[in-house]
Amino acid sequence: MSILSDNMGEGGVLGRSVFKAALLATLALAGQAQAQTQARAQTQAQAAHTLALDAAQAGAVIDRDVFGQFAEMLGEGVYGGIWVGRDSKIPNVRGIRSDVVQALRALKVPVVRWPGGCYADQYHWRDGVGPAADRRARLNAFWGGTLEPNTFGTDEFMDFLGQIGSEAYLSVNLGSGTVQEAADWLEYMTAAQPTALAKARAANGHKAPYRVKYLGLGNESWGCGGPMTAEAYVERMKLFSSFVKNDNPAQMGNPLQPNPEATRRIAVGPGDEKTAAYAEAVMKEWSSHTPYDRDIEGLSMHYYTLTGPYPMTDAATGFGEKEYAAFIKKTYGLDDAIAAQSAIMDKYDPGKKVGLVVDEWGNWLKPMAGSKAQVLKQQNSLRDAITASLSLDIFARHADRVRMANIAQMVNVIQSMVLTDGPRMVLTPTYHVFRMYVPFQDAQVVPVKLAQGEYRFGDIVTPQVDAIAARAKDGKVWLALTNIDPNRPIEVDATVQGVQVSRATGEMLTAPTVDAVNTFDAPATVAPRPYSATASGDHLTLLLPPKSVTVVHLDP
Ligand code: AHR
Repeated sequence: MSILSDNMGEGGVLGRSVFKAALLATLALAGQAQAQTQARAQTQAQAAHTLALDAAQAGAVIDRDVFGQFAEMLGEGVYGGIWVGRDSKIPNVRGIRSDVVQALRALKVPVVRWPGGCYADQYHWRDGVGPAADRRARLNAFWGGTLEPNTFGTDEFMDFLGQIGSEAYLSVNLGSGTVQEAADWLEYMTAAQPTALAKARAANGHKAPYRVKYLGLGNESWGCGGPMTAEAYVERMKLFSSFVKNDNPAQMGNPLQPNPEATRRIAVGPGDEKTAAYAEAVMKEWSSHTPYDRDIEGLSMHYYTLTGPYPMTDAATGFGEKEYAAFIKKTYGLDDAIAAQSAIMDKYDPGKKVGLVVDEWGNWLKPMAGSKAQVLKQQNSLRDAITASLSLDIFARHADRVRMANIAQMVNVIQSMVLTDGPRMVLTPTYHVFRMYVPFQDAQVVPVKLAQGEYRFGDIVTPQVDAIAARAKDGKVWLALTNIDPNRPIEVDATVQGVQVSRATGEMLTAPTVDAVNTFDAPATVAPRPYSATASGDHLTLLLPPKSVTVVHLDP
């Protein structure tokens, strides 16, 4: 079965398997006993697949922002997970915990979306600036009515970005806020001239204007952010896109001389088929704008992976193969959702000027035992790592349209990178995939022709193997391969052109079971280990263990 790439012919694959089995049988007969017997047992269970790539055929760039993240003011996503306060015994720099910063730095997180999510449309930025004693505490109505002390506000968020080396994606309050409030927020952050708001920023410790790479114009305005009809949203969105300006001289836009550094404005898009009207309405409006009036540079889309009608009904641990297969299938639904939204966008924007921004995605599962539902703290297993790699592959295949994606969420919430508990921190399986995929940031896609095969469980059928290739900025060609099949190893016979290859080296991530997790007491149950494969001529044979993610670079 080949869902996404060319099928290279299963007949050839079968032929090679038979040949290999025969060869191994001969070796065994020759008396090379136990080792070969074991190898035969394994090889006979193995599925073989062909992969072909020509590194000279590099295509669209995988925008590094596709590896972006999302940190909402919710549960322990910020408080406890990122912010511990200046007086905490947990090592911190200006209140931001150092272990989490160090872990995130290794991911080269390109961009962080904040403060929501649903919370964005109830957030009032003035509550969270100035001396700590003057911050205004509020209730976080969306997420359990908890007390929001606003000790982590704009300047703390920008400090956090500086510490991890990332860029800002701020969602403005389009629901309960005013256009003027949002315009003032941007002025506070970005004005270089001594306006009252720029002076307030300087008094709060930051004289130089901040950079704001992306501005989200509301969030899920068909749901928690409104709810508005698509038409009502578009009318309101136009006011925000017209008046909420970046005043940082380095980022100022000019209709006659476009600035590549200018803030990119992201309009709300759909979360499912029921809200698809948003894509249509926003793109229709975009297609009629002139260079002088309101504009957007991106359209959002949300895609959560869950099997029920509501989130938090799927177990995060202790599930079986049926639930594993169901999640793989749902993950490939992301490809369909992107294709559907791209088709609407293509109608109005065939030149692909507007980026598709998947600014919330991930597996949304049952909360951890003992944690409250509305803090959305869930465990993270090998299944999450595998669906993360498949999702990143899907984004890469849509690199010509998908310009940013933000996994939900960064710390302690939904499909997170790290989990914390007081002073302790553990890296999740998803973290490892994001670190292994760092070389794909800003790399050029190299199309692969892959015989994907079939993985079946009951009536669920998905590809058995997935792969992407890309040429990184330093010229190296990288290959990411996911063996989806939880039972069978896979042999990939890769034919490589356009680059010299004698071996492939990198890392491979797997674990004993698909629901294996890392805990504070056993943090390395799901951890990558070194991997290498050797080539012969232009053929590279890669053996992929069941339920594994492998990332390698091709060495001359
Ligand atoms: O990520 C959790 C929530 O999911 C976000 O706040 C909201 O935008 C979405 O419904």
